[in-house]
Amino acid sequence: MSFPVTRPRRLRRTEAIRSLARETRLSTHGFIYPMFVCPGKNVRNPIVSMPGVAQQSVDTFLEECREVEQLGIPGIILFGIPEKKDATGTEAYAADGVVQRAIEAVRRAKLNLLVMTDVCLCEYTDHGHCGIVENGEVKNDPTLELLAAEALSHARAGADIIAPSDMMDGRVGAIRKALDGGGFQDIAIMSYAAKYCSGFYGPFRDAADSAPQFGDRRGYQMDPANAREALREVELDLAEGADMIMVKPALAYLDIIQRVREAFSVPIGAYNVSGEYTMVKAASANGWIEEKRIALEILTAIHRAGASIILTYHAKDAARWLKNG
Ligand code: PBG
Repeated sequence: MSFPVTRPRRLRRTEAIRSLARETRLSTHGFIYPMFVCPGKNVRNPIVSMPGVAQQSVDTFLEECREVEQLGIPGIILFGIPEKKDATGTEAYAADGVVQRAIEAVRRAKLNLLVMTDVCLCEYTDHGHCGIVENGEVKNDPTLELLAAEALSHARAGADIIAPSDMMDGRVGAIRKALDGGGFQDIAIMSYAAKYCSGFYGPFRDAADSAPQFGDRRGYQMDPANAREALREVELDLAEGADMIMVKPALAYLDIIQRVREAFSVPIGAYNVSGEYTMVKAASANGWIEEKRIALEILTAIHRAGASIILTYHAKDAARWLKNG
């Protein structure tokens, strides 16, 4: 049936009809807010390239956690800036590391927040790579043990969900084994399964002070030109025991989110990364775009593509906007 019998505009006539016909509803219930914790007391170092985001000491961080909880955001993902970095990222798996202390603080405060932790070495190593470096090469297998130790220390501190972002082969299996061995068989893993080697992580590397000191991450993160490979990565992570998977970045990878959604039944998260956030902030600061409208449109598109969980620096803003209609 075609025009004039069919008129798609009938369902766009009023907000009430549009709302009834709406296919996708963005909700605060799927948001995860990324946060950066650093040593010290009463510290708040704003990240210049990410307006609204800061490195914070545990006390200051805890105050923001209360705000996140009050906004109805279900959880946070934690990144740590260590006291000092070394070749093997020792602070990543130290019982008194900054992330471990932050998790314990959230637990002690009895906040109603899911605590997800990023498991990786790049924030903790002096060379800034996500694994052990030998002769200028990032070594896969020796790294697994350290990642497993890091995940286990996060679980001991009280983390709910472990999110490995390093892209070493076999890390999900190694982490699952370590968690189970430590009595944490009920702690879930959300793997950064399809993580691309992306320029959109630029501002994050200011925030986490984690830029590689030589070379780049092409030897372990995925080539932006590949899509089928993402399905293979997801399949492998699920076979190793991942409970949920993530696609990252989000905005330039909506096709990947959709393909993964169609091929697998597990919950899918998408990371609306630092560069995506920064572009919106910078353009809106210039008055060139409308922040609220654009940010909600982007988040809706990520959700529409198939991600039920969205990790986003816009979580607090978006929660407010959604609350106020
Ligand atoms: C750690 C990690 C990165 C991000 C999340 N975990 C940086 C990277 O891989 O270089 C990026 C997040 C963002 O850009 O917001 N490996």
